[in-house]
Amino acid sequence: MNTPSDRYTYKARWFHWAMAILIVLAYALILSRTQFERGSQLRTFVVQTHFWVGIVVLVMAFFRIAERRRHTPPGIMPPLEGFLRTAATLSHYLLYAFLFVQPVLGLLTVLIEKGSLPIPLTQLLIPSPFPVSEDLAESLEDIHKLLGTIFYYVIGLHVIAAIWHHFVRKDNTVKRMV
Ligand code: HEM
Ligand code: HEM
Repeated sequence: MNTPSDRYTYKARWFHWAMAILIVLAYALILSRTQFERGSQLRTFVVQTHFWVGIVVLVMAFFRIAERRRHTPPGIMPPLEGFLRTAATLSHYLLYAFLFVQPVLGLLTVLIEKGSLPIPLTQLLIPSPFPVSEDLAESLEDIHKLLGTIFYYVIGLHVIAAIWHHFVRKDNTVKRMV
């Protein structure tokens, strides 16, 4: 059995898993949009829900970082050294950056392309503070899509690393997060 101090705090674990689910959902929604007819209500709903799931991730990211700064996680036993330690730290920074950068890019794309942010299942639009620019919106969308693709691999590597820690290195990395 783990004592509380062997693990990330309850809040940190909650944020980690809730946000992991939301990120999978954001991917699943946007990738499934092609299953629905262009212009259909269902497709609009799926795409707009992608926006809002991403916005929830962005809001949660601020609270998660605050929690992370308040509590240093317990160390991995046996401790990681050298390259593995650097790779773990770097990938965690990248994952944290993604939680902010990806939704901000998506949000800016929508605001600058359409001039407003739609609220799903309503006719309501939140007006954009930015001028509309198709060219800029297209560039932002391209970066958003590119990052989305790159992070399949970063997230994939993160999951493989967790499996490796648990089943091959047999350390407490995963136990600290569950
Ligand atoms: C965790 C957050 C997010 C993730 C992981 C994510 C991921 C993605 C991915 C992978 C794509 C490309 C899909 C494809 O090429 O088929 C995409 C497209 C897009 N996303 Fe996001 N996104 C996030 C947040 C947001 C937010 C917050 C918004 C807007 C408020 C947004 C707006 C868009 C738009 C406008 C597209 C292009 C859709 C289209 O071409 O029809 N995303 N997103
Ligand atoms: C099934 C999927 C996932 C598994 C099994 C998993 C597992 C883990 C584990 C075991 C840790 C602790 C690592 C350590 O302390 O060295 C961790 C940390 C972390 N995970 Fe995940 N994770 C998953 C999905 C995700 C996703 C989708 C994201 C965000 C895009 C994410 C972001 C992070 C971050 C930023 C940390 C660092 C926490 C910190 O030390 O502050 N994880 N993950």
